[in-house]
Amino acid sequence: MTDSSFTIDAHIEPGADVDAIKLEMVRALTSTPKKLTPKWLYDDRGSELFDEITKLTEYYPTEAERSILAERAKDIAEITGADTLVELGSGTSDKTRTLLDAFWDRGLLRRFVPFDVSEATLIEAAAMLAERYNGLDVHAVVGDFNQHLPKLPAEGRRMIAFLGSTIGNFHVEERRAFLGALADTLEAGEWLLLGADLVKDVDRIVKAYNDDAGITRDFTLNVLEVLNREFDGNLPIDNFDFVPLWDPTEERIDIRLRAATPCVARFDALDLDINFGEGEELRVEVSTKFRREGITAELADAGFEVAEFWTADGPSGTDEADFSLILARRV
Ligand code: SAH
Ligand code: AVI
Repeated sequence: MTDSSFTIDAHIEPGADVDAIKLEMVRALTSTPKKLTPKWLYDDRGSELFDEITKLTEYYPTEAERSILAERAKDIAEITGADTLVELGSGTSDKTRTLLDAFWDRGLLRRFVPFDVSEATLIEAAAMLAERYNGLDVHAVVGDFNQHLPKLPAEGRRMIAFLGSTIGNFHVEERRAFLGALADTLEAGEWLLLGADLVKDVDRIVKAYNDDAGITRDFTLNVLEVLNREFDGNLPIDNFDFVPLWDPTEERIDIRLRAATPCVARFDALDLDINFGEGEELRVEVSTKFRREGITAELADAGFEVAEFWTADGPSGTDEADFSLILARRV
């Protein structure tokens, strides 16, 4: 007999929190500079485009992290002894299957909790995983990891995975708040598995965010389609240029959309008119790159002790590590 069903908790219900979302958006579009949170990038189209990004030769983080997972998944299962794997920002959970296989093969795994803001991607992944691991309790959660961590199921001995260097998409102060909330969510002795991209040759980083096929550009511009659709807007998308910059002080890619000429957009659902001056930018996303000492200290401040810090090598001829996978214990 097979048991391949999954359950789903939705903390982002269509139509719920409408006033809070509108207020957030009005603030985002009227602040100086104008600035979005990256969750708006991941509608169905955005999630598909991100999946295409992960297959680009220029976008090294996915394969780098996958190679560490392939090498270390068994160690992770053994060290943590976790029976519940939670994955934040799980997307397709593609790389996660390596981890799930290792936990499953040791007979440890009882529960998988994928958590994402993108409901369609989450449901597709949950259905596929429930089918693949017969009898596994797949408990999907639709939520915003900036708000809904306290709603995570508390059963089992947990390891929370946060892969892909999505941690880099927070600004510094948001990252501190997020790591603090994560520590509050876990009991002492539970685990965090964190993928964090590392500082390296700047040209290599910049190419990863400005690929020749223009997929990252399409992924970024799609956010304007999302805003127009969600808030009955008429942003003139063709008037915006994709501007990915390397910020050497913050050591992060900073992705903006820049208005080529002055324009006005009306958002009926927000009862709001927004002016863009010539060259004015909308800040869409940052992607911070880390150093070992810095991220270890941030984790310690939040209440995590690093047990393992694994890295993937960069291209041959360089001696820089490319990407890190950090196993940390809640103290
Ligand atoms: N973990 C995958 C996907 C990374 S893409 C990987 O390593 O390849 C980032 C994922 O985080 C997307 O699936 C997106 O929908 C999700 N996400 C972005 N902001 C979020 C938020 N505020 N709350 C929950 N999920 C979020
Ligand atoms: C999801 N996140 C870690 C990606 C990154 O690399 O910062 C998002 C992305 N944006 C453009 N390319 C990829």
